[in-house]
Amino acid sequence: MTQHCWQQALISTALLLSSVNNLVLCYAQVMEFYCESCETAMCLECTEGEHREHVTVPLRDVLEQHKSALKNQLDTVRNRLPQLTAAIELVNEISKQLAERKNEAVTEISDTFDDLEKALHQRKTALITEVENICSTKQKVLQAQLTSLLQGKENIQSSCNFTEQALSHGSATEVLLVQKQMSERVSALARHNFPEQPHENGHLECQVETDGLRRSIQNLGVLITTGAVGHTSVATGEGLRHALVGQHTTVTVTTKDKDGELVKTGNAALRAEIISADGVCTEAEVVDNKNGTYEVGYTMRSEGEYSFSLLLYEQPVRGSPYRLRAVKPSDVLQSPDDVKRRVKSPSGGGGHVRQKAVRRPSSMYSTTKKKENPIEDELIYRVGTRGRDKGEFTNLQGISTSSNGRIVVADSNNQCIQVFSNDGQFKMRFGVRGRSPGQLQRPTGVTVDMNGDIIVADYDNRWISIFSSDGKFKNKIGAGRLMGPKGVAVDKNGHIITVDNKACCVFIFQSNGKLVTKFGARGTSDRHFAGPHFVAVNNKNEIVVTDFHNHSVKVYNADGEFLFKFGSHGEGNGQFNAPTGVAVDSNGNIIVADWGNSRIQVFDSSGSFLSYINTSADPLYGPQGLALTSDGHVAVADSGNHCFKVYRYLQ
Ligand SMILES: *[C@@H]1O[C@H](CO)[C@@H](O)[C@H](O)[C@H]1NC(C)=O
Ligand SMILES: *[C@@H]1O[C@H](CO)[C@@H](O)[C@H](O)[C@H]1NC(C)=O
Ligand SMILES: *[C@@H]1O[C@H](CO)[C@@H](O)[C@H](O)[C@H]1NC(C)=O
Ligand SMILES: *[C@@H]1O[C@H](CO)[C@@H](O)[C@H](O)[C@H]1NC(C)=O
Repeated sequence: MTQHCWQQALISTALLLSSVNNLVLCYAQVMEFYCESCETAMCLECTEGEHREHVTVPLRDVLEQHKSALKNQLDTVRNRLPQLTAAIELVNEISKQLAERKNEAVTEISDTFDDLEKALHQRKTALITEVENICSTKQKVLQAQLTSLLQGKENIQSSCNFTEQALSHGSATEVLLVQKQMSERVSALARHNFPEQPHENGHLECQVETDGLRRSIQNLGVLITTGAVGHTSVATGEGLRHALVGQHTTVTVTTKDKDGELVKTGNAALRAEIISADGVCTEAEVVDNKNGTYEVGYTMRSEGEYSFSLLLYEQPVRGSPYRLRAVKPSDVLQSPDDVKRRVKSPSGGGGHVRQKAVRRPSSMYSTTKKKENPIEDELIYRVGTRGRDKGEFTNLQGISTSSNGRIVVADSNNQCIQVFSNDGQFKMRFGVRGRSPGQLQRPTGVTVDMNGDIIVADYDNRWISIFSSDGKFKNKIGAGRLMGPKGVAVDKNGHIITVDNKACCVFIFQSNGKLVTKFGARGTSDRHFAGPHFVAVNNKNEIVVTDFHNHSVKVYNADGEFLFKFGSHGEGNGQFNAPTGVAVDSNGNIIVADWGNSRIQVFDSSGSFLSYINTSADPLYGPQGLALTSDGHVAVADSGNHCFKVYRYLQ
């Protein structure tokens, strides 16, 4: 910028248009032009000067352009207002409800304790009354006895007095006169049976055992609430989407709080609603497992399409409402092809139901159809069979996906990479066997970076090869450092992370091959590995590594510091028999291929077991790499079956 422009720019800063960097208007000289490379306005003189080589356009045009861009941005952001308004209403409503619930609870507490006080008072009165009654009954008996004893005593005394009087003071005549009468009376009194033994006892006491009651009172009243919210809680089970008419079906809801942490207590208000298109409701029953999970059971009465809503505190559980399809068991029975096999009916009552077994065509061209059979497992499709042709595999290992809808497979023993669309259509294949740069010897891991480049860990060549999205070799990295790279992933910074299975450590490279850091060594501690295989990066840029021989999944931060691990050896929920492929979804859930148990397990971001992917209809055989497709499904390299499979999960 020339000197005069600088001065004028200072004077006219007030005229700056805020959104356009460095855009100034000349004071005396009109700034009519705009340099796109420098993002600045200038006068005619400047276009001839230092901006001579740059593209300059009339300022007016740029202004219009910027104004309309700004307007668009404004519109976009303004369009968010209704959502925010709705959210504010909802949160306000919940806050109001909470306040009401609180008042109700306070009223409930006061009423209950008032009642209790009343009951206590009544009992006190009753006890006192009874004490009085018993006492007075006993007293009556005693009084009667006393009366009769006193009476006797007086009789005796007066008779004695009288007789004594007569004896000492009376004349002979008088004595003789009373002698007979007195003698009879005195001897009668002498014989008389006075009630000399007490007719009652003085026993009356009150015992009140209050310890238990006191303890009860101390623990009286429980406040019930949870932190569970709908949008993080998940429902699992085939029954979310498919049901057989007349057969009891259940799905499981796992409640979570706003941070996605499992809620471990029950009592959340969960409601299920199954409605057909014409508004007919099917009853669903919710069983509270009291550990934060709930079983929702229902039985469809007629076939058709339904909307299945799961509402947690009246807010939809993740993915709800689901589209539920109910079919007659007979429709499933009568599939003309295929072997039939017997499967025990879950309801038990109906004995056995015949079910179609899955024999999938092996040609890739006929396997891309979405399956229709509603009681199959969660498989969407499978591609491939053992072979050397396009769409065939020999011991495939790694699998990856790209944001533009591709599935990329490391076809290990065919020394090539094959690329498919998200729906399983073969797209292309590249790779030549060999030990020179650009050739493949044993591709095991594969990943796709932000630019769409395909990054391949080559176990036997001991380096990482980078290819463009159309398969042209670009570069190799890690040669001379790596001993046996297996899994590979790319993090948010574009760093290439590879698991060196032989060296038992994790290498982090810049995309140009410069080593950033490495961590791990052979061993059994948290910082060591007993046979690391695959790696994934989560949304926090943390590194998730499967440790095959330690039967665990270990999580590290981007600097390689150990964070936590999960899993142990076994066949139970959350246990592994040699974990291999691993992927992390956008919610942080960790999906792990369990090689020896030939299954796929889903964990939440903290490593708590959530569910299995149901692979029962067409079992896996030694699954290896695993990835999430851009449309939210799980793609797994079913190595032992020489094919890859795509599943839905958590739904
Ligand atoms: C019997 O005589 C004594 C004195 O001799 C007198 O105190 C007493 O009251 C008399 N009792 C009756 C029942 O008359
Ligand atoms: C919760 O309880 C149910 C039923 O008792 C049980 O099947 C399930 O495994 C439990 N889940 C957890 C996460 O503890
Ligand atoms: C898995 O899918 C099969 C159908 O292939 C079904 O019979 C079975 O009940 C499902 N298992 C679970 C746990 O949902
Ligand atoms: C797995 O690693 C843990 C420590 O992270 C260790 O205590 C355990 O012994 C290891 N088990 C095996 C089978 O390597």
